[in-house]
Formats: sequence, structure tokens, C-alpha cells
Amino acid sequence: MKTRTSSAPLSKNEHLLKWVEKMAELTKPAAIHWVDGSQEEYDSLCGLLVQNGTFIKLNEKLWPGCYLSRSDQGDVARVEDRTFICSLSKDNAGPTNNWVEPFQMRKKLKELFDGCMAGRTMYVIAYSMGPVGSPMSQIGVQLTDSPYVVVNMRIMARIGQKVFDVIDKGDARIVPCMHSVGAPLAPGQKDVSWPCNKEKYIVHFPETREIWSFGSGYGGNALLGKKCFALRIASNIARDEGWMAEHMLILGVEDPKGEKTYVTAAFPSACGKTNFAMLIPPAPLQKKGWKVWTIGDDIAWIKPGADGKLYAINPEAGFFGVAPGTSVKTNPNAMAALSKNTIFTNVALTPEGGVWWEGMTDEPPAECIDWTGKKWTPAIAKETGAKAAHPNSRFTAPASQCPTIDPKWEDPAGVPISAMIFGGRRATTMPLIYQAFNWSGGVYMGATMGSEMTAAAAGTIGKVRRDPMAMLPFCGYHMGDYFRHWIKMQKSITETPRVFHVNWFRKDANGKFMWPGFGDNMRVLKWIVDRARGRGAAKESPIGWMPHYQDLDWEGLNFPKEKFDELMAVDRAAWRAEVMGHEELFLDLHDHLPKEMVYERELLICRL
Ligand code: GTP
Ligand code: SPV
Ligand code: MN
Repeated sequence: MKTRTSSAPLSKNEHLLKWVEKMAELTKPAAIHWVDGSQEEYDSLCGLLVQNGTFIKLNEKLWPGCYLSRSDQGDVARVEDRTFICSLSKDNAGPTNNWVEPFQMRKKLKELFDGCMAGRTMYVIAYSMGPVGSPMSQIGVQLTDSPYVVVNMRIMARIGQKVFDVIDKGDARIVPCMHSVGAPLAPGQKDVSWPCNKEKYIVHFPETREIWSFGSGYGGNALLGKKCFALRIASNIARDEGWMAEHMLILGVEDPKGEKTYVTAAFPSACGKTNFAMLIPPAPLQKKGWKVWTIGDDIAWIKPGADGKLYAINPEAGFFGVAPGTSVKTNPNAMAALSKNTIFTNVALTPEGGVWWEGMTDEPPAECIDWTGKKWTPAIAKETGAKAAHPNSRFTAPASQCPTIDPKWEDPAGVPISAMIFGGRRATTMPLIYQAFNWSGGVYMGATMGSEMTAAAAGTIGKVRRDPMAMLPFCGYHMGDYFRHWIKMQKSITETPRVFHVNWFRKDANGKFMWPGFGDNMRVLKWIVDRARGRGAAKESPIGWMPHYQDLDWEGLNFPKEKFDELMAVDRAAWRAEVMGHEELFLDLHDHLPKEMVYERELLICRL
């Protein structure tokens, strides 16, 4: 019985047409919709989502073109323990990834996807990661039964007819991405506002460059261009082709002379990438002519250029940013970017038809509807500790709406990178800022990075875990080989970026952040740029180069030298424990660990 309907295919590519048909036979949707990417289509899908109860249209006067969505309470973040790298050999996935034998996993997926789209529409989304037509871009096609995913993908990536046209030219390799929320509908069955499945599988086949995602509609689990493609699959492609796919923001610093220095930074999830990428310098530094421009807030694809420098593009077109803590004080650029045409997920709804989250304003609203759909008041919060917005609630906003978006953000050639920054959330041990002595020291610095866990993934919040280059959940192959790839990159460039480590999150004895953070991070960034341009002073320490107190610009901030010394302290006892933590990771990776990492560790121990 074939009662399926379909919109006209938007591609003539035989392989694509055959694959779509084969997947439709497996998943048995009621209809197929080829996504053209137009505004009319977007508006009509948003209308459908409102009708289904997935979306609430916000007050058009206050929040033009904006919608609120509330997820299922069991589908609020990435699920790292349900994420799999199914390479042919287990050794290729390495000890930091979940691995299942690919034949066995395919069998399981066949069962899961059999009929999983019954009663739903299967959308065919062609998307480009990176500007359409850039030599650094890559193409994927995602099949999904979630219209929520379609409208989010339209903000986060370049999608639709223009990408089908590239596919029809025939020379691009396509990454096939299967996605289902895993909630088939029986005839006449009423849908829920956020369909999903308790059983979740986020599966990657690196050799065949395929992604299969089942059971979740949330963020990185479901918007497959982001973490699944642009990091887990792309890291495999990058290793093979000699480039890098990194969990990094990209920004440009304009100095008083008007010269721009581009910098990338790898911080783990919910550790400040979006905020840093959109930084607004303190007024006195602005007056001197310092300004920060935004290229990307989450992912960087980095390639050696003909001039021997590394060049980076942002493969994304939007921001999927953490809402809580975002305010006109902490991040006015993000607030401007999300002021219109934005999809909010799991934030609170105000009586005026607006949105609110913890930290958005000093005063909470007198009452609102929390992310679970229940009434919330400050009094209720005080009594029960209930949050109005989920800690991992997010906004999906077009990057083009960011006031500081760099004029070169869509340059197909990318921007030249002069410095790379690593950083985690560390209450102790790690100083505000230090610089690696050289590239291999920098690779060691990134490889041994640690951070306290956040709400961005299911897990124990606050526990320090090793998160090499902020890629622990995102590296699609053996972490030891990934370090080797970083070491090897030096051979294909003549000018290596300078490498730095920052920590905005060190706490004092009372558990308070010692550093004001946010805009004041410009003081640290200025030193980084000065160092990268060979004009900043520094002193040697056992762990790397550090600024003297007078090397940072303190104008407009009362931060005495004693406080700075405390914030920059390298405690030898704490560092002994830190090095033990490095060793624990290295033990897991020992048979793939490049010898440079062992030597760097020995040198560090000697200096300590
Ligand atoms: P993902 O999107 O998950 O990859 O996160 P991200 O790295 O972009 O993190 P984001 O910038 O959204 O910041 C996450 C949280 O850290 C927010 O609650 C911020 O308010 C907070 N934060 C960001 N920068 C700073 C800072 O300099 N100091 C302090 N104390 N908190 C910060
Ligand atoms: C992260 O967790 O690093 C994110 C959010 O950027 S998600 O897209 O869900 O991965
Ligand atoms: Mn991220």
C-alpha cells in the first residue's frame, strides 16, 4: 500500500533520489517534502509548528518573528553516553568514544528506523557547512521527520535550492544524515508538542561518512550539521586531507592602528565561547580604538593557506547559544542578534508574550510560565529552587543579525589566524592567562585541558574532567591520533599561531569568581594580540609566558596587584596534582600518544 505523497524533487542527482526513496521505504513517512529554503516555506513551517503546539508565537511588537519552544523534559541536552563512533576498528574510535561494531550497529539502526516516520512528513534538507561554493565548505543532506529541525537548520546552516544546485553540479561528496525523533504516529493518533523517544542513538560511521540520529529533537543531537558533521565527521575528513575541524570560536581584534588580528578559542560547552566571540571592550579601551569583530561562536574549520598561515572559516550561519546569563550587560551583541527572527527553546514565557531567563535582567518578572509550562514566580523559585529557564535553554539566531559580525565572516577564503586560545572552567590551579613556549607546548596545553562539567550535556555538573581541545565529546577518531595530527600541522605551515591558555572562572576562598570576566576579558585579549604581534612583554614561569601586572591595560578597572598575583598564582602542589590528571588521560591513550606529549610532560615536571 503506497499512499505516500511527495513535493517535487529539487535535485536531479540519481544517487540522491535513490537514497531518499530507499530511506522513505525504510522509515515509511506519510509524505516527503523537499526543502527549498525560502522565506515562505519557513513561515508556513513555523505556522504548522504553532498549530502542532511545538511553537508559541511571541509578541510580534516585542519579539518580531520569534517563537518559543518547550522540549520534552527528557530531551534537553546532548547525550554523550548515547553517542557512538562506529569505525571499522575499535582502535580507530579510541578509548574516549563509545564504539559499537558497525555491522551490529547497522542492524540495530535498521530496526529502529523501520517505520519510524509513520504518520509524519520526511523533510529533505540539503545544506552547506561554510559559504555556498567556498573551497573550504562541505555538503550534507539531512532527512528528518522534525519540522522544528528544519526551521532551526535554516538559521544554523545554508540550506535549500542553492545547495541542491551545487549537488547537481556533481563534484561534491555528500554526507548523508538520517534523523528521526523516533515517534511514529498510528492512524488518527494525536501528536505531542515535542515528539521524541526514550531510546536515543547518535551514530557516526567515519569511513562511509554517514550520520544516523534517533530519538532526540534537541540541539547537537538533531541539528546534524553542527556537532555530528562539522566536528565528528569533519575531524575525520580533516585528518585525511590535512586541515582541522575544531570546537572554536573565531574573532577579529581591531587595534588602535586599525589592524586586525584574528584569533580562535576552544572552550568546552557552556564555558564562554559565544560571550568571548561577541566581546565589547571596556569604555577606556574602546576609546583607545580597540574593537572585537565576530566570525563564529562555536566551530572553526582551519586550513593551511598558500602563504604558510592557517586560515579559518565558520561553517555555521547562526548561533545556537546558551540563554541563561545572557543580558544587555554581559552580551549586548547576542541580545541584539536574538532580538528578532529567533527561535527560543526551553526559556520562560512572560505574560506579555515575551521571553525571560535567569540572568537576563536583575529583577525577575513578577510571574511567568517556566520551561516546563508551569507557573513560576520569584517566591516559588525561592521555595523550591525551580529555574524559570532550563540551564541549557538556547536561542537559535541568524549570525548576520549580530552587530559586530565581521565584514569577512562569509569570505570563502577564511581569515588568517595569529593566535589560538584554550580555556576551561577551573575554580582552582589554572591562572588567568599564560602562553605556551612553542607549538608543541601549545598542543600539550590543549591536550591536557580540564574543565568542570556543565549543563550542555547530561552528566555530573561541576566535576573536573579532561577535555582535550574542548573536543572530548566531538573528536570522531582516536584522541591520541588527533594530538599527532595537531603536531603534524606545523609541517604544513611556516607561521604557527601563538598558543595561550585562559581561565575566567578561578574562585577565591569564599567561592566567588576572582575575575570580572566578560568585557574585561579584553584586557587579556589585548595582551594576547600584543604577544602574537611580537610587541607584548612577558615573564617566564614554569608553565609558560605570563604577563607582569603592568603588561595588562587596567584603565577603568580597580584590580590591585595583590589580587592579580592571587589570580595568576602557580601553586606547585596543585600543579603536581594537575600533572597526575594529565597522566591519567595519557595512560588511556598511551599506544597512540605522540612522543612529543611525553617529552612536553617531562619538561613541565622538570620546570615544576
Ligand atoms: P556552547 O554553546 O555550549 O558551546 O557554549 P559556549 O562556550 O558558547 O558558552 P557561552 O558563551 O554561552 O557561556 C556559557 C555560560 O558561561 C553563560 O552562562 C555565561 O554567562 C558564562 N560566561 C561566559 N563568559 C564568562 C566570563 O567571562 N566569566 C564568567 N564568570 N562567566 C562567563
Ligand atoms: C555544545 O554543547 O557545545 C553546543 C550545543 O554548542 S549543541 O549544539 O547542543 O551541541
Ligand atoms: Mn559548542
